[in-house]
Amino acid sequence: MALLENKVAFVSGGGSGIGRAVAEAYAREGAKVVLSDINVEHGEETVKIIKDSGGEAFFVKGDSSTASDNKRMVEVTVSKYGRLDIACNNAGMGGPAKPTGEYEPDAWDRVIALNLSGVFYACRYQLEQMEKNGGGSIVNIASIHGQVAAPNSPAYTASKHGVVGLTKNIAAEYALKNIRCNAVGPGYIETASLKDNLTQNLMDAVEAKAPMNRLGTAQEVADLVVFLSSEKSSFTTGSYIIADGGYTAI
Ligand SMILES: NC(=O)c1ccc[n+]([C@@H]2O[C@H](COP(=O)([O-])OP(=O)(O)OC[C@H]3O[C@@H](n4cnc5c(N)ncnc54)[C@H](O)[C@@H]3O)[C@@H](O)[C@H]2O)c1
Repeated sequence: MALLENKVAFVSGGGSGIGRAVAEAYAREGAKVVLSDINVEHGEETVKIIKDSGGEAFFVKGDSSTASDNKRMVEVTVSKYGRLDIACNNAGMGGPAKPTGEYEPDAWDRVIALNLSGVFYACRYQLEQMEKNGGGSIVNIASIHGQVAAPNSPAYTASKHGVVGLTKNIAAEYALKNIRCNAVGPGYIETASLKDNLTQNLMDAVEAKAPMNRLGTAQEVADLVVFLSSEKSSFTTGSYIIADGGYTAI
């Protein structure tokens, strides 16, 4: 039997990169998938890819940085498929590259609103629903910068450290309610956003720093997310698991 048979799963930022890979992987494992994005075209494209391969998926437009949209995304999921078993809170942004002493407060607010407050809002309403349906599993997408600095990206580093802390709190609060919550820390993953944000020189440098001497793939992150979302990880909660080709090991 597939790992997520009969489950209803939600992924934010499912229109590209890691979110799309997670949505596809959830569907391959038998879940009914609701995916959100601010980009309607990309979100619908992910649904088409999943349906063309025989899976079940539904797109909802939503801005993950607002509490109201996060509440609505849970409501849409429940009205479409009746419950919510699994959530991967993935939507995130890098923000501008500036040292802390030059970082614009507005940019700080935007990054924190999506990467940290957005994950809190998502969990806030997902937990309420998961309690109603007797349990669930939440996987929050952090970063290796939930553990080590990303020089010139102070808001990103702070937001991802915050996601790791929030994840542990939720795990402690909901363990006896049959809800697990874990965080994944991808290293440098080959996605469109990485290519947009890093120069070729920087890409070469991050590749060379990882003992595996390559970027990761979105699929490699999705595989870990599926594991943490499924019963295969039934004793794992409050964990922060890195997938970085050894980048932070040395
Ligand atoms: N790519 C990497 O190297 C890497 C490394 C570590 C962590 N991450 C994290 O993984 C997650 C996904 O990153 P990615 O590289 O796949 O990015 P991506 O840019 O390819 O995908 C992000 C998706 O989120 C959507 N999005 C942006 N703002 C949104 C909002 N306000 N509401 C809803 N959707 C929104 C975008 O439209 C896009 O489809 C992020 O949280 C990122 O911080 C990425």
